[in-house]
This record gives sequence, C-alpha cells and structure tokens, in this order.
Amino acid sequence: MNITTENKTTTLQINDMIELDITALAVGGRGVARYNGMVFFVEQALPGQKVLAKITVLKPRMGEAELMQVIKPSQHESAPLCKHFGACGGCDWQTLEYNQQLFWKKQIFIDCLTRIGKYTNQEIDKLNLQLPLASPKREFFRNKMEFAFSEASNNTQNEQGEQDEKKSRPLVGLKQRFSHNVEEITDCKLQTPLTMRILELTREWLDEEVKKGHRLNAWVENFDKKNNSKHYPKQDHAKAQALLRHLVVREPELCLQTEQAEQKQCLVELITTPFHLREASLFKRLGLKLLNVLAQEYGDSLSFGFIHSVRADKASVAQGEKIVQSFGTLLLKEKLGDITLQFDARSFMQTNTGLSNLLINKAKDLCLDLLPSSAVIWDLYCGVGTFALSFAQAFQEKNCSCEIFGMELAPASIFHAKENAKNNNLDNCTFLQANAETTLKNKKLLSSWTKPDLVFLDPPRTGIKESLCQELLQLAPQYICCVSCYPATLARDLNHLKSKYTLVSAEVFDMFPHSSHLESLVLLKRKI
Ligand SMILES: C[S@@+](CC[C@H](N)C(=O)[O-])C[C@H]1O[C@@H](n2cnc3c(N)ncnc32)[C@H](O)[C@@H]1O
Repeated sequence: MNITTENKTTTLQINDMIELDITALAVGGRGVARYNGMVFFVEQALPGQKVLAKITVLKPRMGEAELMQVIKPSQHESAPLCKHFGACGGCDWQTLEYNQQLFWKKQIFIDCLTRIGKYTNQEIDKLNLQLPLASPKREFFRNKMEFAFSEASNNTQNEQGEQDEKKSRPLVGLKQRFSHNVEEITDCKLQTPLTMRILELTREWLDEEVKKGHRLNAWVENFDKKNNSKHYPKQDHAKAQALLRHLVVREPELCLQTEQAEQKQCLVELITTPFHLREASLFKRLGLKLLNVLAQEYGDSLSFGFIHSVRADKASVAQGEKIVQSFGTLLLKEKLGDITLQFDARSFMQTNTGLSNLLINKAKDLCLDLLPSSAVIWDLYCGVGTFALSFAQAFQEKNCSCEIFGMELAPASIFHAKENAKNNNLDNCTFLQANAETTLKNKKLLSSWTKPDLVFLDPPRTGIKESLCQELLQLAPQYICCVSCYPATLARDLNHLKSKYTLVSAEVFDMFPHSSHLESLVLLKRKI
C-alpha cells in the first residue's frame, strides 16, 4: 500500500492514502486534521487518534477522507456502550469519554458562532460559555426511537437461483452509516429494554407472516439517476401488500396512576406505504401480537397503544399521513417542568425528558428575570405548548400577569396545546395553528395578538427562514430567545438578526449523549 507522506509540494489525488493526526471535531461529528496546508474531515475519527485515511473528496483548501485504520488510539477513547457500535449509524461518539463529548460540543457551538454567525472572539468571550449541561441519564434516556426497515441481506436462493421468499424477511432496526441498509438492533442503550422487546416481537411477526406466504417488503429509498427523483422500487410496488417504512416506538417517562397500578406508557406506530393495502389485518396482527405478549409480560403496569398508518410521500420521514387502524392508548402524557402535557403520535415531544426539564427551567429563569411583571410572550414553534405553558405557569406562580401567544404548524399539536392549557388551569394562553414563516406578516390574522416583549423560538433543525428573521427585525421585540438543536442553522439565523440584536447569553445542553448533536439556548437583546 502506498502512503502519501506530508510534503507541501506533493499533489494529492483522490484515493491517496494519508496518515492524519486528528486534532478536533467539527459540526456533524467528523474528526478534523490538517495535512499539506489543507483541512481534512474524517468520519468516525476522534481527536488524539493517528489514522490512516483514504482521500474521497478534494477541494482547493479542504478534503474528506475515509477512515481505514486507527494507527494510534486517542487517550480519551472508551469501550463502546453497545455491540452495534460501528455498524449502526447512530451514536457516532460512543467511544469518546463523556467529559470529552461535552468539551467538544462546546467547541463546536463556539466554532459555529464564529464561522457562520460571524461573532468576534471578544463577543464570544463575553458570553462566558460553560460546558454543556450534562444529561441526567447517559443510558436509556430517549423516550422515542424511529426504526427503519430494509430488505433482508441474507436472502437465500433455491435451486433454480430464484429467491426463496419464505426464508427471507425484511430487517428492522437502525440505518447503517450512509446506507439504506438496516442494522438489526437487539441491544441499543438509548431506549429501554421494552423497546428492544418490541423489536424482537416485530421480527417474530415478520417471520410468521413470511412463512404464511405474505409478501412483506421494505420500502427502500431508490434514487433514479435518469430523472433525478426518488421513487418506489417498481418490482416491490407491484407485488407487495404494502411496503414497510418505519416503526416508531414512544415511551414517555411519566407513569400514569390508575386504581390498579402505576402504568408505564408505550405507543407503537407501524408506517407502511398505502399501495395495495388489501389486507390491513396483516398489519393488525403485529399490533395484536404486541398487545397480547406485552400484557402477559407487563400485566397492568403497561398502558399500550398501536397505530398502523400510511405514508405516500416519498420523503423518508417517520410520520404517517393517515391512520388506517389503531387501538389501545393513543393519547400519551409527559410531565415537563411543572406542566403535564398530553400529546399523540402526530405531535412533537422532546426526546430526552430529564434534560428537557433542565432546559425548560433554564429558559423560564432566563426569560422571567428580564421581563416586566406584566409581559407578553410569543412562542412561534410551540408544539403542544411545552415552553409557552411553562412560561404562563411561572408568571402565575409569581402572581404576575402575562399573555402568552403560541403558533404551531401541526394541527394535532395545536389541539393538544389548547387542551394542555385547560388541563393545567392556564387561561392566559392563545394558540393558533399557522406557519410561523409566512404568518407574521399577516397583520389581519395577528390583529388580536398584543405586541410581544419577548419572542421565543424553538424551530426544527432547519432553523428559521430568512423571511422570518426579516419579520422579527420589523416586529422588533425587546428580546428574542431561541432554543435550537442544530448550531449551524442557529448561527446562520443569529447572523441575520445581528443588525438589531446583541447576543447576550448562550448555554449548551447535552440532549443527545454519545452523538455529536447538541441543544442550545440563546438570548438576544434589541440594541436600541
Ligand atoms: C423542535 S419542535 C419544538 C416544539 C416545542 N417547542 C416543544 O418543545 O415541544 C419544532 C416545532 O415546530 C413546528 N413547526 C415546524 N415548522 C413550523 C412552521 N413553519 N411554523 C410553525 N411551526 C412549525 C413543528 O411541528 C414542531 O412542533
């Protein structure tokens, strides 16, 4: 094997093997190294490692390389948490010591503020950023997981060379890195053993149905190079009873109190394509199997619900568009901060309950300290009212008056937000189902909304659109407070707001241990 050694005059080429000293981690979790005056990004490499890597992308000042071998380990490496590490596409930092994970999340956040947000070192120093607030739980901290299906990799062939369908079944688990193939997860440390049992029972159901001769195929994202669009695999589409897309398991932390028992909640949603859905009973059998087996194993201590929904849209999103059949407990409850929130399979809920409690308390303290005793807050991506209702309750506890206005795109979430306000005896909240990115300029629609002292934003990973930033600059509340799960889009949005707003505080939270993802809370104050 030829290894290209560092030499400023050497011209590097794709597929060259180079030795790299990994010195940092970048947003997205990749290792960073310098070589021949260029920056290289290497997936799955950790700071402190010396690695052998193959160049896959070359640009004038940067490149990407594939990790081929760790020549020298990092002193901060730890043993993997689970046996799926490496094959499974989740938990890219599983072998990095936890305190180092926190250290690098802080660095990544600062890097985004500097590179994308264009904040100066002095501006960042003033924030006095601390290490991220650690997750109270480092294992079994997720209350929701989205599993995917893929075609069996070990399809057997009969003597004629045809596939023996009875012996093959789709796989269910988590996607492998950069692949549509699935790693059959049996021992994930992120969600509880109940979820692992549900996966096991789902595999048993797949085996049973395939043995009966049912065509159960997985929906595989294919890319049609000709017309540049994603399409359903034609063959499967024609023959399958429906294509399996996702299995979503939700396990809120809150236990329900009933007369008989304290009940753990669990909701399973099977999402298929709507094609040739001739036998919905086939999918119902999964729900019934889970219901019966879990009833035997957990008795009254489990409140279980099952949904079979369909999704025709090709985007690989684990959310059904239409419920075909459902039974059991479909309405879930979670306690966040001091508020009990109801929600369902169509609503967003924070996935790490323990850490979310810390985040909500910090957001409440931050906002309440600076607002007048009679304040108006707009929460523009309010979900089922998680932050909006926590603010309302905090004001109520201090005997201060406040008006809270919440906006949210998902109709189901807005329905639950209104119910949650009633159930928590909070009558100073108004919720509107609308698109935050297009509604702010609709003065007529918002004519009943009092002008805000503070606008609170907790958008999806994509952040807020530039158009909404422009609307916020026009609206000009005294404060803007943002929660974000993606520092790169947050930094971009902060840059758009910079002309009128100063970044006055920032805090990072470890919502997603063992991955490079981070949550942050920032506060902006109007300059004049
Ligand atoms: C990260 S979640 C936060 C929800 C809530 N703050 C919470 O903590 O549960 C983002 C929310 O924004 C909603 N959303 C996405 N795009 C939106 C838009 N354009 N306008 C309003 N809401 C939107 C999603 O449905 C989701 O409920």
